[in-house]
Amino acid sequence: MEKQVPHPKSQIAVLVSGHGRGSNFQAIVEAVESGPGPAHVRLLVSANAECGAVERAGSHGIETLVLSPKQFDSELAFDEAIAEAIASRGIELVCLAGYMRKLTPEFIRQFRNRIMNIHPALLPAFGGQGMYGLRVHEAVIESGAKFSGATVHFVDEEYDHGPIIAQAIVSVADDDTPQTLADRVLRAEHRIYPEAIALFAKGRLSVNGRRVRVNP
Ligand code: GRF
Repeated sequence: MEKQVPHPKSQIAVLVSGHGRGSNFQAIVEAVESGPGPAHVRLLVSANAECGAVERAGSHGIETLVLSPKQFDSELAFDEAIAEAIASRGIELVCLAGYMRKLTPEFIRQFRNRIMNIHPALLPAFGGQGMYGLRVHEAVIESGAKFSGATVHFVDEEYDHGPIIAQAIVSVADDDTPQTLADRVLRAEHRIYPEAIALFAKGRLSVNGRRVRVNP
C-alpha cells in the first residue's frame, strides 16, 4: 500500500545543533520565502545559541527557539519539548540542517515521513554514525570514487538511512581536497534541499517502503 505523505499546512521548522554555519538554513529560507512556493519557515529550533543559523534567523525575523539538552533530564524529554513546539505551531515538516543529535524513536514515530535530513554524499554510501563534516569527503576521496553528491532523505530510526527523496551528483576532481569537495557538494545541497521541501509542500511526495515517488 502506498502511503501518501500528509499534505502540509505549509509551515516548516528547521532544526540545527552544533556550531554549524547555517548555510542550508539560509538557502532554505531564501528559496522558500522568495518564490511563490507553498512553504513557510515558521520556526528555527537550535540546540546551541551560538550557531550561525540563530543569527541568520534573527535577521529574517524567524522565530527561534534555543533549547539546551542540558536543561532536560533525558533525550526523550528534550525531544518532547521540540515536538510540543512543533505540534503547537501547526508545523507539518521538520528539516534537519546540520542537526547532529540522534532523534528519539518516539519523535520519529510522531513525525514519520515528515522529517527530512540532508547528507553531503550519495547515500547509502558514505553515511552512518560518525560520518559527518569533512570525514565524509575524506572517505569519498580515499575510496577513489569519481562521483559524490548530496542526498535529501526522510529520517528513520537509523543514521542516514531513511527513504531517499532527492540526490545531486558532484564529480570528484583528481586534485580535490576534502574541503574543495565539501564546498562543491554544499552548493548542490543548497539547490536540492529547497527543491525537496517544495515537492513535499505541494503534496507531491509519497512513500512506499524505501522508495519515494515524486507525483506529477
Ligand atoms: C551540511 O554539510 C549537511 O549536509 C550536514 O551538515 C552540514 C550543515 O552545514 N547535514 P550548514 O550548517 O547548513 O552550512
